[in-house]
Amino acid sequence: MKKNKREVVSATRVGEEWFEQQPYIDRMRQVNEDFFKKTGRKKKVLINTWGCQMNENDSEKMLGMLNNLGYEETDKKEEADLIIFNTCLIRENAELKVYGNIGALKPLKEKNPNLVIGICGCMMQKEHIRKKLLEKYKQVDLVFGTHNYHTLLQLIERVEDHNERIFDVWDDNKKVVENLPIHRKFEFKAFLDIMYGCNNFCTYCVVPYTRGREKSREVADIISEIKTLVSNGYKEITLLGQNVNSYGKNLENPITFSDLLDQIANIENLDRIRFMTSHPKDISVELLEIMAKHNNICNQLHLPIQSGSNKILKAMNRRYTREHYLEMVQKAKELMPDITLTTDLIVGFPGETEEDFEETLELVKTVEYDSAFMFLYSVREGTPAAEMENQVPDDIKHERFDRLVEIVNDLARKSNLKQIGREVEVLVEGLSKNREDILSGRTKTHKLIHFPGTEELIGQVVKVKINEAKSFNLSGELI
Ligand code: 5AD
Ligand code: SF4
Repeated sequence: MKKNKREVVSATRVGEEWFEQQPYIDRMRQVNEDFFKKTGRKKKVLINTWGCQMNENDSEKMLGMLNNLGYEETDKKEEADLIIFNTCLIRENAELKVYGNIGALKPLKEKNPNLVIGICGCMMQKEHIRKKLLEKYKQVDLVFGTHNYHTLLQLIERVEDHNERIFDVWDDNKKVVENLPIHRKFEFKAFLDIMYGCNNFCTYCVVPYTRGREKSREVADIISEIKTLVSNGYKEITLLGQNVNSYGKNLENPITFSDLLDQIANIENLDRIRFMTSHPKDISVELLEIMAKHNNICNQLHLPIQSGSNKILKAMNRRYTREHYLEMVQKAKELMPDITLTTDLIVGFPGETEEDFEETLELVKTVEYDSAFMFLYSVREGTPAAEMENQVPDDIKHERFDRLVEIVNDLARKSNLKQIGREVEVLVEGLSKNREDILSGRTKTHKLIHFPGTEELIGQVVKVKINEAKSFNLSGELI
C-alpha cells in the first residue's frame, strides 16, 4: 500500500548485520518484468561517478547488480528511470561539482515524479552533507554510503514500493562483501580491489573518515576472481587499494603484498599486472625485486611523494623522509631501468614556505618523473590540516602550482622523447578521441600511444614503433 506522504527514514549504524538480499532481488525483478510488459521497454539507469578508481569500481558493481534486475544503462539523464551519483570528497572542487549536478536534476524530477534519484559515495559519509541534501535538495530520494552500497536493491525497493525517502549511511562495515555481480567497463582490462579503507590519517586527507579502516580481501577470493577474468580473455589487471603495501596485515593468516603479487604473477596467461597506490613508508625492496622478477608485472610505479620538504612531510603525517623516498626510487631504477615513475604532489599545504616548495621542485627534477598528478591544497573539514593556522594564500598556491606544472610537463616531454625509435607492445584500448582511423593504447610502462589502425584491434596486444613524442602521449605505427 502506498503512503500519501513521503516519510524520511534516516539511519546510521555500524554495519555488523548482513542483509539477505535475495528477497529484494526477486521482488525487484518481478517489478521490472511487470514494467516491461506494461511499457514495452526496460527501465534505464544512469550512474555518474566522480573521484578515484575505487569509486569507479563501486559503480561497476552497482551497475552489475542493476543489470541483474533487468535495468539497461543509459548516458542520457532525460531518459533515465534511476539516476545514481557516486560522489567524491577529496577536494573542494569535486564536492562543489556534485551539488551543481544534483541541483540540475530538479526540473527532471518535477517532470517525472517516478524518477528515482540516489546519491552515494564518500560525500555521503559526512553528516552535514546528508543534512543539506535532506533539507535543501528534496528531489533526492535515496542516500547511502561507501559501506552499504551492496544493499542498493533493498534501498531502491523501499523508495519505489513504500514511497519513502531513504537516508541510510553506515559508519563502517567490518565485513568484506564478496560475490557482488559486476558490469565492467572494459572487456580486456579490469580494476580489482584487494583492500578497502586506510589507516594512515595523512593530516590533509578525508579518506580514512569516508572509507574507514583497512580491510583486506582473502587471497583465495582475489586469485579466483583473476583466474576467472583471465579465462574470459582479460589481459590486464590493476590491483587497487589506498595503500596496497599494507595489504594482508589484518588477515587471519597475514601475508605481504609482495607475496600476493608473486602468486598473482604466476597465474597462467595473465599478460599485465599493475597496482596502485603505494605508500612510500611501506614500500619494500622485496616488492621491487618481485616486480623486476616477473615479466608480466608492469614496470610502472605510482609513488605519491606529496612534498619534497621533510618539514612538510612531517606536518602531513606521511612518516617518511625525502631521503628514504629517493633511496627507494634509486633502488627501483637500478632494478628496472625502463621503469615509469609517477607521483601525486600537493602545493600550498599549511606552513609551506618558498624554501619548502623549492625542495619539492628539486626532488621532482632529481626523480625525473614521467608524469604527476598535481593538486592545490584544499581545506577539508574535519581533518587536522584544516585547523592549522599558517594556511598559504590562494595567489601563492597558484603561482607555485604553475611553476611546478611547467617543470613536470617538461620532464614528461623529455621522458617521452627518449622513447622515440623503440618498438613496444601496446594493449589497444580504443579509438583515439577525435579520429576514427587512429587507435590509442598503453605500453607496458603505461605510456599513452596513438597509431593508425582499425577497430578490430581493440583489446589486442600489438607491436608498435614509436615515431613521435609530446608531453602527454606518443605516436607510432604498427609493425
Ligand atoms: N588537498 C589537495 N590534494 C589532496 N589529496 C588528498 N587530499 C587532498 C587535499 N585535501 C591528493 C593527494 C592524494 C591524491 C589522491 O589526492 O595527493 O595522493
Ligand atoms: Fe589519504 Fe594518506 Fe590514506 Fe592516501 S595514505 S588515502 S593520502 S590518508
